Amino acid sequence: MALKKEVESVLNKQLDKEFDASVVYRAMAIYFDQELLKGLAAWFLKQSAEERSHAEKIIGYMMDRGGSPVIPATKAPKMAFDSSLAALEAALAHERANTAGIYDCLETAQKVGDPATVEMLQWFIKEQVEEEQWAEEYTQMLERVQKSVGALYGFDHQVAKAAAGD
Ligand SMILES: [Fe+2]
Ligand SMILES: [Fe+2]
Repeated sequence: MALKKEVESVLNKQLDKEFDASVVYRAMAIYFDQELLKGLAAWFLKQSAEERSHAEKIIGYMMDRGGSPVIPATKAPKMAFDSSLAALEAALAHERANTAGIYDCLETAQKVGDPATVEMLQWFIKEQVEEEQWAEEYTQMLERVQKSVGALYGFDHQVAKAAAGD
């Protein structure tokens, strides 16, 4: 069954969010690198690639359904932040907005009776639980360690290991 226009439109909105997250995280990786927090830099570089792969998943699905994906214009991301904590808080806000976007897609797919899209979105729903989890944890951790350089580098080292794993 052809992709309904409402679903195509909301998936294109999500495509915009995924590309945007990829670009925003790429910029954050540069910022953390400049702050000499190499673990967080590696983490955000990896997240940037993951967001790009989320965009690919949506494009692939839309193509399979005979839809027309639209590649969004690149919005210039913020390259500097008041603090590392501010950057992580911005990442958390991004993940929450991405989750809300996925839920919008789900609501639309359910409303128009599109079980294939509902099923496709299950992967993203699970993924967003993990994404919000790291964003929340890292924000909280950074809040705790930011005043001690030793603790901050300890935390960054831990993030470096997480970025190197899986
Ligand atoms: Fe994503
Ligand atoms: Fe994400």
